[in-house]
Parts: sequence; structure tokens; C-alpha cells
Amino acid sequence: MSNTFGKTYRITIFGESHAPEIGVMIEGLPAGSVIDRAALQAFLERRAPGRSAYSTARKEPDEAVFTEGLGADGRSDGTPLKAVIRNTDVRSADYDSFRSVPRPGHADYPAYVKTGRIAPGGGKWSGRMTAPLCIAGGIAKQLLEKEGIRIAARIRSIGGVSETAPFTQEFDGQTVPVTANSPLIAKRFEEKIAAAKAAGDSVGGVVECCVIGLPVGLGDHPFGGLENRIAEAIFGIPAVKGLEFGDGFAVSALRGSEANDAYRFEDGRVVTKTNHCGGVLGGMSNGMPLIFRAAFKPTPTIYKEQESVDLAAGKNVILKGKGRHDPCIVPRAVPVVEAAAACAIYDMLLGEKEGKKEPAPSAPAGDPLSALREQIDAADRQLLDAFLKRMDAAAAIAAHKKENGLPVFDGAREAALLEKIAACTPEAMQPYTNELYQTLLRVSKDYQNALLREE
Ligand SMILES: Cc1cc2nc3c(=O)[nH]c(=O)nc-3n(C[C@H](O)[C@H](O)[C@H](O)COP(=O)(O)O)c2cc1C
Repeated sequence: MSNTFGKTYRITIFGESHAPEIGVMIEGLPAGSVIDRAALQAFLERRAPGRSAYSTARKEPDEAVFTEGLGADGRSDGTPLKAVIRNTDVRSADYDSFRSVPRPGHADYPAYVKTGRIAPGGGKWSGRMTAPLCIAGGIAKQLLEKEGIRIAARIRSIGGVSETAPFTQEFDGQTVPVTANSPLIAKRFEEKIAAAKAAGDSVGGVVECCVIGLPVGLGDHPFGGLENRIAEAIFGIPAVKGLEFGDGFAVSALRGSEANDAYRFEDGRVVTKTNHCGGVLGGMSNGMPLIFRAAFKPTPTIYKEQESVDLAAGKNVILKGKGRHDPCIVPRAVPVVEAAAACAIYDMLLGEKEGKKEPAPSAPAGDPLSALREQIDAADRQLLDAFLKRMDAAAAIAAHKKENGLPVFDGAREAALLEKIAACTPEAMQPYTNELYQTLLRVSKDYQNALLREE
């Protein structure tokens, strides 16, 4: 079985729905990474069962216990990290009638042929296996946030009812996700689920996800692109049957003039006026929000009578669902989608950094300065990356100014910039940031003047 995902941030999920425990082994987490355990637990809680009238009645605390690789100070020690979750509310007897009768829509029949048994609770094919995925994804999400990359998902539709409010909005010059559904639509979602549940049936729906703050160019052509890697992770979530990026299938009905996202400069940054491509071109991030949607089928186990077969007796039978099941998977799948995306993106980001990394300066083992120097090195890499991007934008501005006969120096804009930087800086640091930005503005002008002289 392939229960491992990732090349640099490698996660291996183990356990079964009705085994004593489930868990995840994480390799490649940089030493010294700080994990906020309370925030991680709150993230797991969003997926945990038994928390609403519209989820399975199985009640699990879903507490992540770290048994290897994490120090008492919450920092990873650079060895593989192991986290387990105990299964405490198991009722395997509920599955006695399914031992040789596969549930239509579930993985039971092919799993029986492959492994010789139908495991209670769906075994390794249970939605419960997304809890350890959320541990790995929750950690990746926290570490991505430190790099300025934010992942958020929300329900797009349930049972054919769709959210129509925009998924992202501009706030204080930044794009932010709107994760809550509008109250009227949330109520209609609940009604759809309640009606299906009352009929002993289930409904499906769509989860949409956005990733904000990706560096332009993240993704490898042709098989390591953002779409490829996210698809691999998202299709690891049980019950996902479709995935689309940006306008997805709908883009095929547009003309090029409607589907293309026009470019423009905004505050020295290249942005697009629309985002039909969902922030990804040629498998790479174009710097706009990455938007994708995952379609979930209705929960396979239902309480209505269905036709099936008894594989042991070799005869056709009628099966009626038993046990505790989600009448709709979608609400609990929202954090799972975020987790899968976080694992894929953090793996790609670490992989790219790894590729660019210079040999580490040798520090004696146990040197108390080495961890701090690593932090400085990491900050320097980010600074350099941001500086080079800034200079690229300055070059584009120089070209624009030349074309329009404008001067390189714009005193009012410089003064406004210095004021803005001071406002965002703690008072004690203001003299230093002021000096840094004065220098930055000077070298930027030098570069622009040199470019203008060139031609
Ligand atoms: C969060 C989550 C919860 C799920 N809960 C259930 C459930 O209660 N009952 C069920 O039959 N399937 C449930 N599933 C779906 C099955 O695990 C899945 O349909 C099955 O493994 C077959 O795989 P496939 O649908 O990807 O083909 C859940 C999936 C997820 C992601």
C-alpha cells in the first residue's frame, strides 16, 4: 500500500479505523521547528467526529500524542516525528453484517479481493484516517504561515445548493479568505443534510480552498507542478471524486479573450485583473491566490435498503446500513482539504529550498549559537528572495518611467513609504528600519538610473 506522501516533507499514515490507534510519521521536518500544540489541537477539533448533529455519532477526543521527535519545548529535534491518536469509541459489532457483504459505494469489495477481508469501520479506507493527515497538515499549515503563506477552505456547495458570496476579499490592501458561509446558505446546507439524514440517505458537495502568499514560480514542470502535487494529496482523501483549479471545467466554454487573466502593476507588483486560472500557470504559482475545488460524493453507507452480494455464500442479498455515519462528509472534510494542500505545498517549498541550499557552515554539535544562526540564515534567504523580487519590480517601473518620460525620483512616494514602514514597526526598531529603507531606496534608484543609462 502506498501510505506515504511527499518527497522532502514525507508523511506516512498508519493504523485503521477500529485498531487501537492511528497516527502519522513525519520525516523532513526541519530541526527546531516550533509546533503550537494548542493551535494544532484546535485544528484537529474542526475535523473530529461527534461534534454536531450532522456528523457521525462516534465520539472521539482525537488528541494527538507526540511519542518521538518533539522536545518538551514544542520544538522538533530533527529526527522523524511520530504522533498517534487513540481510537476510544470503537463498535466493531456494528459491522458484523458487512463481513462478507460489501457496502455499495464503499471500498469494501475491491478491498476484500485485495486483502481477503472487509475490515470493520472501513479499515484503512475509513474517513477516520484523515485525522493523522490533519496532524501532518496542521503542522505544515503552521510552518507555512510563518513564511507568509495562508491556506483556508470553506464549503462551496451541499446537495446542489451553492455559496454565491465571494471566497476572497480585499482588506487593508491584502487579499483575505472569507471562510464562513453566508447565514442563509449555511441554513440551506443544514436543511439539505437534515432531509437526507431523515430519509436514511446521504448527500455530497464541494469544498473550495485558497492559498494566499505563494512565491511566484513555485512548482516544477511538467510532473511536479502545483496542480499535480495538490491533486496527488487531495485524491488521498476518501470520497473525493473531482478536482478543479480556477474556473476548472467551466473555462472550456469560454473564449481566450474571456479566460485569459490580464496583467497590470499594482504597488510595484505584477497582478492579474481576474483569476480564471486559479493562480497557477504552467504548473507554477503566478502570485495570485491559488484556488481549487474538490468534489465529495455522498457518504456511501446509508440506512436505506440496497442491493449487494454475500461474497462468502455466493448469493445476491439486500443490505441495510448499520453503524454510525456522516450523512454528509463535506463539513468535516473542510480542514482535511486544507491539511492535504498544506502537506503538498510545504513539501514543494522545502524541496525548492533544499535545492537552493548552500552547504551549512559547520558548527560544533551542541553549539548554543547554531540554532540561532540557522534562524538568521533562513531570514537572510527570505530577505534576499524579497530583495531580488523588489529589484525586478524596480526594473519594470524604470521601463515604464522611461516610456512615459517620468523622473526616477518620486519624493512624495518615498516619504509615504518611509512613513508606512515606520507605522508597521515597533518604536525601538524604527531608527534601524528607517536606515535600512533609506539604503534600499538609494540602491533601487541607482539600479533604475543604471538601467536607463544602458539604452
Ligand atoms: C472526513 C470523512 C468522513 C467520512 N465518513 C464516512 C462515513 O461515516 N461513512 C462512510 O461510509 N464513508 C465515510 N467516508 C468516505 C469513505 O471513507 C470513502 O467513500 C470510501 O473509503 C471509498 O473511497 P472513495 O469514495 O474515495 O472511492 C468519509 C470520508 C471522509 C473524508
